[in-house]
Amino acid sequence: MKKILILNGPNLNLLGVREKSIYGDRSFEGFFEELKQQYANFELHYFQSNTEGLIIDKLHEVGFAYDGVILNAGAYTHTSVAIADAIAGITTPVIEVHISNVHQRETFRHHSFLSKNCKGVILGFGLDSYRLALESFNS
Ligand code: DQA
Repeated sequence: MKKILILNGPNLNLLGVREKSIYGDRSFEGFFEELKQQYANFELHYFQSNTEGLIIDKLHEVGFAYDGVILNAGAYTHTSVAIADAIAGITTPVIEVHISNVHQRETFRHHSFLSKNCKGVILGFGLDSYRLALESFNS
């Protein structure tokens, strides 16, 4: 059974409460429970942190053992060379996801330090971005 970690960065603990017109009105926890039921063929894990170093520690922890990481690094996507280096340093493939279509938003959201080191990027499909990323591990 493939082991996949969904890793959420800063402010994503506020999903369902935060800027609902952009991020929707569902909490991630509820969505994650549904995903686990729908994709019972995967061993799914979830971790969220608002702290850059803890996100890096988690990538190191799973990055030589798990089959995949689905990473929404939130605003660190646009700022963090350290997370980009962590992705480059591990062997587990990482898929970058975003709930919103960052290219329709402020220009500072158009650049990702992470994409280059990721297997692929899925963005703009709401919470379904995570499901589509997970689906890619089915093949
Ligand atoms: C986000 C997009 C980022 O620009 C933003 O800082 C987030 C969420 C998204 O999922 O759309 O926190 O990663």
